[in-house]
Amino acid sequence: MEATIVSDDLKHYPVLLKEIISVITPQHGGTFIDCTFGQGGYSKEILKYKNTKVLSLDRDAESKKKAQQIEKKYPERFHFKNLRFSKLNNLKLKNENIKGIVFDLGYSFVQIKDPNKGLSFNSSGELNMMMGLNEFSANDVINKLEKKELEKIIKNFGDESDAKKISRNIVKFREKKKINTQDLVSIIERSKRKKNSKIHSATKTFQALRIFVNKEISELIYGLINSVKILKKDGVLAVVTFHSLEDKIVKYFFKDLSENKSISRYEPKIEQKKLSFLMPQKKPIIPSDKEIRENQPSRSAKLRYIIKNNDSYEIETDVVKKFSNFLEIENYGSKL
Ligand SMILES: C[S@@+](CC[C@H](N)C(=O)[O-])C[C@H]1O[C@@H](n2cnc3c(N)ncnc32)[C@H](O)[C@@H]1O
Repeated sequence: MEATIVSDDLKHYPVLLKEIISVITPQHGGTFIDCTFGQGGYSKEILKYKNTKVLSLDRDAESKKKAQQIEKKYPERFHFKNLRFSKLNNLKLKNENIKGIVFDLGYSFVQIKDPNKGLSFNSSGELNMMMGLNEFSANDVINKLEKKELEKIIKNFGDESDAKKISRNIVKFREKKKINTQDLVSIIERSKRKKNSKIHSATKTFQALRIFVNKEISELIYGLINSVKILKKDGVLAVVTFHSLEDKIVKYFFKDLSENKSISRYEPKIEQKKLSFLMPQKKPIIPSDKEIRENQPSRSAKLRYIIKNNDSYEIETDVVKKFSNFLEIENYGSKL
């Protein structure tokens, strides 16, 4: 997610920071995992509480510089790893007293503004969109995948109604010339039947490509699954999302772990599963008007959280099956 710039310095606003702290309660101590370190806004705030330890992850190696400054200040209590959060299970954490895991999904303002990353449709040059530790770039996707696959990506991850026409025009264009960022923007503009005055014509397609290039759906699903295993009793999993697809997955997963499926009285009785989590509030927490005024991009943020009620490592969920269509689409990347 983006933060706002104030002055020439890249000023970062951690979204819903007060609210995150109030749900993970670091004043009680314990180990906290900040899965999306970024500029370290959440990590720094947690470390202000004396009995805490923080392990932070970020897939973007650029975050390391900021992390090194924090490591100097808290050499005993802070540790950073350049790792994708779906790989949380590669870390030996079973014996840690993990009391909170936080995700602040998306991109930092610094990343959006980085011309080398090419995340925005205002970028110039070769298509890229890689956040870090990627297997392929947007350039590979646009110039190599088949028409039908491009259409599915743009439709499913961007909710773009003109996905068919856009992908047809991409394939036509690349027969003559390799497509760069600005070529893609003009292909999309030419393909759109109706222009939406509120958002740029390329917004949805670029969102779809960023999700696909960074495998954001697989990252989120496996990040969540690995998190709930390692949390200790009373530990909190808190996730801030920025678009409806992310929020839909988090909402489903949290419900799946904290509620039994309702069955009609006409259906045969099935054994209800043991619930390991509690969801104190069904509605997401959203930024105050004041926060939105100070940091416009926070307007689409939604914070959801669940609390674990035992120390079990085995957690039953069907989230992979539920979103298998999205995971299958992300798998098109395996041939690149
Ligand atoms: C919105 S920023 C986080 C900002 C942070 N909360 C702060 O206060 O500075 C999101 C960060 O998550 C990182 N990120 C996104 N997906 C990731 C993944 N799958 N694994 C690890 N880091 C990821 C991005 O590189 C980015 O730095």
